[in-house]
Amino acid sequence: MAWKTLDDMDLDGKIVLTRVDINVPMDGGRVTDATRIARIKPTIDDIVAAGGTPVMLAHFGRPKGEVVPEMSLAHILPAVTETLGRDVTFIEQPSREALDALPAGTVVLVENTRFTNMETDNDPKMAQFLASLGDVFCNDAFSAAHRAHASTEGVAHLLPSCAGRLMAQELGALEKALTTPERPVVAVVGGAKVSTKLDLLGNLVRKVDFLVIGGGMANTFLAAKGIDVGKSLCEHDLAETAREILKKADEAGCEIILPVDIVVAREFKANAANETVGVDACPSDAMIFDAGPQSVARINEIITGAKTLVMNGPLGVFELEPFGTGTFAMLDTIAAQTTAGALVSVAGGGDTVAAINASGHADAFTYISTAGGAFLEWMEGKTLPGVAALG
Ligand code: 3PG
Ligand code: MG
Repeated sequence: MAWKTLDDMDLDGKIVLTRVDINVPMDGGRVTDATRIARIKPTIDDIVAAGGTPVMLAHFGRPKGEVVPEMSLAHILPAVTETLGRDVTFIEQPSREALDALPAGTVVLVENTRFTNMETDNDPKMAQFLASLGDVFCNDAFSAAHRAHASTEGVAHLLPSCAGRLMAQELGALEKALTTPERPVVAVVGGAKVSTKLDLLGNLVRKVDFLVIGGGMANTFLAAKGIDVGKSLCEHDLAETAREILKKADEAGCEIILPVDIVVAREFKANAANETVGVDACPSDAMIFDAGPQSVARINEIITGAKTLVMNGPLGVFELEPFGTGTFAMLDTIAAQTTAGALVSVAGGGDTVAAINASGHADAFTYISTAGGAFLEWMEGKTLPGVAALG
C-alpha cells in the first residue's frame, strides 16, 4: 500500500480535514439510506479518539457551482448527527480562526463543497484555502475518488495526507478481488448498455477467468453473434465492438458466459405474461427480461467452482416480478458460497447494491462498496485521482 492510514499520522490536537462522501439519497426531506454516513463512523471515531478535530468536507448533489438551498448539507445534518451518534457542528463559511476556537474533539461538517465551481475545477486557490483550514488531510471518500476536485485531489498535495478507514477498506477489498485474487475469478457484469461499460469489459477479460454478461448488455452480444433478440433493449451498432471483446476474451483465456435460455415478455411491467425459451427462440415482438434457468444453473456452477467474484450489474430486470428470478438465484449461490468460506465476493454500483439488498443477502457478501462511478472506474483499471493523490 502506497498510502498512509490514520495510524501513521499524529492527530493529537490537530485539525483533520476529512473528505467524506455523504451524498445520500433523500425523499421528502428524509435520508432514505444512511449507509454512506454509517460507513464513515470508524474514521470520525478514530480521529476523535486520537485527540483530533475532524472537519468533514463533502459534496451533496450537483449544484454546478451555485448555492442551491435544496442541496445544503444542513438537510442531512440530523441524519449525520444520529448516525454518527455525536453532536455535529455545521459551518457554512469556515475559517481557520473559527475552527481553532472549537474545543478539541468537536465534529464539524462544512457546507457543500460544490457551492463553488472552484471545487469541481480543482482550482488551486480553493485547495490552498482548504489546506489553510487544517493540519492533516484524511480522504475517506472512495466513492468520490474518481473526481479530481479541490477537496478530493488538490488539497491532498498540500497537507500531510492519509486514507481514512473506509477508503482503506474499499481499496483493500478491491485489491483482493482483482489485483491479487485467488483464482478462478468470475466477474458478473450487467446493466442496460454495453456502451457505458466498454472499458470495464476490456479490462476484465484480461483479468478474470469467467465473465458473466447479463441484462441488456447480454442482448447486444447475442445480436452480435447473429441471434435475433426481438424487441429487446440492444445496441445493434455495437455489434462489431462486441465481437472484438469476444475475440479479446478468447485470446486472454477468459470464458464469456452469455444466456443459453431467456425469459421473454411483451410488456415492460411487473407480472407481464412471460415464457422461457431457448436463446435462439426470442419471438420477434418480445423482449428479453431475465436469464433462464439453464443459464442460471451454468452461472451458479461457475460461481461454485470460483474463489473470487466481482459483481457490477444484475442479470435481468430484477425490479419487476418475476424477472428478478435469475438474479436472485445467482445471489443465493454467491451468498451461500461466501458464507461457507469458499468465495470472496465483492460488489458495487447502485443497481447492484439494490438487487443485493432486495435479495436479503447484503450481510453475506465479503464486501459491498459504497461507490458507484468510482467502483466502475477502479474495475476499468483506471487510476482514481483521489487515491493517486494520497501516494
Ligand atoms: C456518488 O454519489 O456517486 C458520488 O458521491 C459522486 O457523485 P458525483 O457523481 O456527482 O460526482
Ligand atoms: Mg455518481
